[in-house]
Amino acid sequence: MCGIVGYVGRQDAVPVLLEGLARLEYRGYDSAGVAVARNGSLRVHKQAGKVRDLASSVPKRLSGQVGIAHTRWATHGPPSDSNAHPHTDATGRIAVVHNGMIEDATLLRQRLTADGVEFTSETDTEVLAHLIALEGADDLEEAVRRALYKVHGAYGLAVMDANQPDRIVLARNGSPVLIGVGDRQMLCASDQAALVRHAEQVVHLEDGEVATLTADSFSTATLDARPTFKTATNLDSAAEDYERGDFDTFMLKEIVEQPDAIDATLRGRLDTRFSTARLGGLNLSARELRAFRRVHVIACGSALYAGMVGAEMLESLARIPASAEPAAEFRYRNPVIEPDTLYVAVSQSGETADTLAAVEEIVRKGGRVLGVVNVPGSSIARMVDGGIHLHAGPEISVTSTKAFTCMAVAFALLALHLGRLRDLGPADGQRLIAGLTELPAKAAELIAREEEIRQHAVWLSPARSAFFIGRVRGYPVALEGAQKLKEVSYVHAEAYPAAELKHGPLALISPELPTVAIVPDDELLEKNLASLEQIHSRSGPVLAISHRPLGQLADKIVQVPKSEPELDPILLGLPLQLLAYHAAVALGRDIDQPRNLAKSVTVE
Ligand code: G6P
Repeated sequence: MCGIVGYVGRQDAVPVLLEGLARLEYRGYDSAGVAVARNGSLRVHKQAGKVRDLASSVPKRLSGQVGIAHTRWATHGPPSDSNAHPHTDATGRIAVVHNGMIEDATLLRQRLTADGVEFTSETDTEVLAHLIALEGADDLEEAVRRALYKVHGAYGLAVMDANQPDRIVLARNGSPVLIGVGDRQMLCASDQAALVRHAEQVVHLEDGEVATLTADSFSTATLDARPTFKTATNLDSAAEDYERGDFDTFMLKEIVEQPDAIDATLRGRLDTRFSTARLGGLNLSARELRAFRRVHVIACGSALYAGMVGAEMLESLARIPASAEPAAEFRYRNPVIEPDTLYVAVSQSGETADTLAAVEEIVRKGGRVLGVVNVPGSSIARMVDGGIHLHAGPEISVTSTKAFTCMAVAFALLALHLGRLRDLGPADGQRLIAGLTELPAKAAELIAREEEIRQHAVWLSPARSAFFIGRVRGYPVALEGAQKLKEVSYVHAEAYPAAELKHGPLALISPELPTVAIVPDDELLEKNLASLEQIHSRSGPVLAISHRPLGQLADKIVQVPKSEPELDPILLGLPLQLLAYHAAVALGRDIDQPRNLAKSVTVE
């Protein structure tokens, strides 16, 4: 949600910043801007619209060796030129880019206005620019520190001062800030994506830390000015990981990457000797793991649906009661944290505000929490007791595909591991290992049928609305399929447990309302066929995602390779991603950057 990048070095900062913004655009894309220091003053260029609009309108003479930039996802005030970051104080001496939200901005704004300060935007961030400017002009880091004592809220900040044009000051509280250490140049960013071209090493700021960057060095300290000592680590991804290559969209690239991504999640984790999964990162002994009596998963969006898939796997394979809950619900209901419950936080980015807050609540109350996270070094990855890294590689498309699939694979590993500590026999363990091993090839087989799925998508796309139905392990697949269609094609879709259809929604079934039905060839097949019968007899069109032909009951079908029943959701979900993708293509949508959305929701 919003992206920050900053540069201090010997090159012209502007191209570095624009390139960094382009790499961060998936974080927010309604307005963008840059500020650079030159000859003792700051120059700011910002506007509503995408980064490419900014890049084409930046004046040629805008240059300097120190600069900060931002791409925005509006929270306070609509997308507009004036609300775009960087924000400055009245004299233009201080420039600020900010991710997060200043909670008492309205009150502070009133106080500042009463003191004669004139605001030029509706943002909470502008408050920071004025507060920092009012704290004096001698020491920028000290001014930032003092200003931050006066605000409540979440921030990742980068600040420049025309009077100290050789530096950028950073601060973090709840919103990620990374320092990129390069060769006689330093960068900062809210996300590693913007660092990969120009930095070799990375340093993660902690909440409550501030930092000062110059071309040759960086220093870090706490908000109360006690120095902190950080170790730089090598960047764990390369520039190509963030590039689209020959694909038209990141979404399609990431769909196609799934066989490799699944392989990466599985790598080194299948233990054929003991018919189990090897999960070294859990940091929990077998005895501790056996003592848990429940598993509770918390997450948001697609990660929540992956968590629902996972809860079902845990319950069926490890015979341990498991549930999944939206993180925002969990954090605000004053949850009882049970000592014998294992909590699992799921997040691609590891930065989602509600998931992070839920983890903090669990940690504060002494609970044990694992993370299923894709971004190593992210806030959630660093806060949890242990967990499973997905190793799926950067996911850039706002719509999650490979991360969702790899989350489900990670849960299968966890369920296998917990199952083998309990009642799951070695033969079942081997059966699942074989099933997991075959997943990448079967995923590739499905993805190769893109053209067939594209035709179904063209058939589906004129619909104003669609139902997605599934039962038990098919239900979270239906939820995720409906979510995919909504977010990328803007076709309204609603998921139901198949049996619930007859309790109301069946009233809507007509030739104009298609149903996408998840029909695995498992113990619930007969029940699912009965639901299809009810739709069919009311002339409702059906697209089935199934392991076997369904005759008259389905107008269209995608036949999915069979896996072990407990693993079925992993493959059943893939055609739904391609379906949403091609429906969006047919409708001419902006696939990687759907309207109103952002990749990582770091505000509430
Ligand atoms: C946003 C994204 C979703 C994602 C959700 C959770 O809403 O648009 O695709 O599933 O956040 O993100 P996380 O990074 O925690 O998995």
